[in-house]
Amino acid sequence: MPLDPALRRALADRVRYYNDLGIYDFYRRTVIAEPEEAPSSVARGLSPAGVVEEEFLPKPKPQPAASDPASTLRLIREDLGECTRCRLHQQGRKQIVYGVGNPNADLMFIGEAPGADEDQQGEPFVGRSGQLLTNMIKAMGLRREDVYIANIIKCRPPGNRAPERDECDTCSPFLMRQIEAVRPKALVALGAVAAKTLLAVNAPMSELRGRWYDFRGTKLAVTYHPAFLLRDPRQKKETWKDLQMVMKEMGLPLPEKPPE
Ligand code: URA
Repeated sequence: MPLDPALRRALADRVRYYNDLGIYDFYRRTVIAEPEEAPSSVARGLSPAGVVEEEFLPKPKPQPAASDPASTLRLIREDLGECTRCRLHQQGRKQIVYGVGNPNADLMFIGEAPGADEDQQGEPFVGRSGQLLTNMIKAMGLRREDVYIANIIKCRPPGNRAPERDECDTCSPFLMRQIEAVRPKALVALGAVAAKTLLAVNAPMSELRGRWYDFRGTKLAVTYHPAFLLRDPRQKKETWKDLQMVMKEMGLPLPEKPPE
């Protein structure tokens, strides 16, 4: 039975969407059609044999799958392409800001969204808050190149507004794949947008920080966003406590004196 063209397009879009997210393994459910009943939208998608028509089965997973984190990260970047999945591609973004750092990092920092400098340079955290983040990383006894840095969303929101919920929902699956590729020992969510998106909770930063969470089997800590620290440097002390908690977990030596 031919499919309604709108349903055909919707199914094809859905399959493409899952493929974009790296999901290729679907199961094929055999449905016994009930001829007496009026055709539902699902039944309209069934072949006479009662199974989803062959043309909507997803493409096979690309082979060979990348086996090392660096190649996996490259594949995810390719899947992202010149992304047009949300409105931000039409709102003045110059380029996608994917992620940067060591593909084998033990520690991964996750911010909110690129700002003007990041949009310009194509790298997360390169502006003023980036300088502060780099200093925070150094204070932990690490170099920026040792860690991996990414954002919840990969395109700059206009006027540096906060990302909207649907933008986070559309973009964050790519971040999930980056996290899976890097498999860090610990994640640090920088600020409320990162924390709330990753943890799916709605609580003030003062309640979220200062403890460990389990994020899909990886330890996750929350601390203040560097941009917030630039506005309110008094919170650097609390941030340093959070970073020390992370250092302790990672077996990094704790300096006697806090950073200036
Ligand atoms: N703020 C963020 O959250 N991410 C960046 O990359 C830059 C600023």
